[in-house]
Amino acid sequence: MKKINHNIFFINSLSDFLNDFKEKSILLIDRNVYKHHQVVFEDFRKIIIDTSEASKSFKTTELIITELLQLKAHRETILINIGGGVIGDLGGFVASIFKRGVKFAHIPTTLLAMCDAAIGGKNGINFGETKNIIGTITNPEFVAIYPDFIKTLTDEEFKNGIAEIIKHSILDSYEHYYFILQNKKEIKTRNIEIITQLISRSVKFKTSIVEQDEKELGNRRLLNFGHTMGHALEAIYGVSHGKAVAIGMFYAAKLALKNGYCNKQTFDEIQFILQEFKFETEFKYDLDKVIEKIYQDKKSYDEDVNFIYPFTIGDCRVVKTNVELLKNQLKIL
Ligand SMILES: NC(=O)c1ccc[n+]([C@@H]2O[C@H](COP(=O)([O-])OP(=O)(O)OC[C@H]3O[C@@H](n4cnc5c(N)ncnc54)[C@H](O)[C@@H]3O)[C@@H](O)[C@H]2O)c1
Repeated sequence: MKKINHNIFFINSLSDFLNDFKEKSILLIDRNVYKHHQVVFEDFRKIIIDTSEASKSFKTTELIITELLQLKAHRETILINIGGGVIGDLGGFVASIFKRGVKFAHIPTTLLAMCDAAIGGKNGINFGETKNIIGTITNPEFVAIYPDFIKTLTDEEFKNGIAEIIKHSILDSYEHYYFILQNKKEIKTRNIEIITQLISRSVKFKTSIVEQDEKELGNRRLLNFGHTMGHALEAIYGVSHGKAVAIGMFYAAKLALKNGYCNKQTFDEIQFILQEFKFETEFKYDLDKVIEKIYQDKKSYDEDVNFIYPFTIGDCRVVKTNVELLKNQLKIL
């Protein structure tokens, strides 16, 4: 077991690790993960869920609570969420409200969840058209990362994680950025040793941000780099999260260049790393629809959005930007 910090660590064997939790746990497992690793979970009390973004709902919350009661969960039970960000967000939410809060832990199984979703204590579900509008900030007892899970991810799911890893590097430092470029080949072939180092870097970076600003009143907003436009494109055009965030980062860099926040070198560096990992950058979109979605996603009714611009690699900043101004700038990019 190699620790990243006090409660986030890597494990070498899933079954050896889980064995210690047989009596006291209930596992909440993503059905795809269950299919791949069925024997490991045989002797456990478990709830298996078909996941999609639509599972982050009150309906699935009720279903899980019903099963927890049937399985005689009590205040000492630990709910171990084994899946991607959907299972983590949902399981963390259920655990934080069931019996006014029971212990929970994450064993993330997608690259995105290992690097991002399982870190930082945000749990939640969607409501109506709005993502993550209902939830809690409660931290898991631990996050146990078993990097071998990435071997069975589809290429698209793998790339969703890579987009977040690239985002972390641009927010973090040149050293982080170059580590990714230098290990491009090993990353693409899913070399577990290099991927483990990447996860460790992302987790350390995200943890350092979250520790200063758990409730997202300041620097945690930086993690939304590429997501203001990204979420809109994902919702309107159904493109994958990674693709949408990559396009969002590219347009944020273009806007930063236009506003004089960054120079051409920084813009080129951002474009270069995205293209090296075969992310599309330019995307034909309907500006009115994107702006409408940005208003909806803000979860507030003022005219400004906290837009994240890269100033240089390792220095991105939150700039309050008037949405109509943003629209006008995007129109003439
Ligand atoms: N809480 C946070 O801070 C935070 C941060 C980022 C994203 N999120 C949330 O995370 C969710 C996205 O997470 P995700 O990208 O992990 O998606 P996901 O949980 O939907 O998983 C993606 C797909 O991969 C499958 N899968 C999972 N692990 C697998 C494995 N090891 N092998 C094969 N298939 C596997 C799943 O069944 C699913 O079909 C979104 O709902 C997003 O809002 C939360």
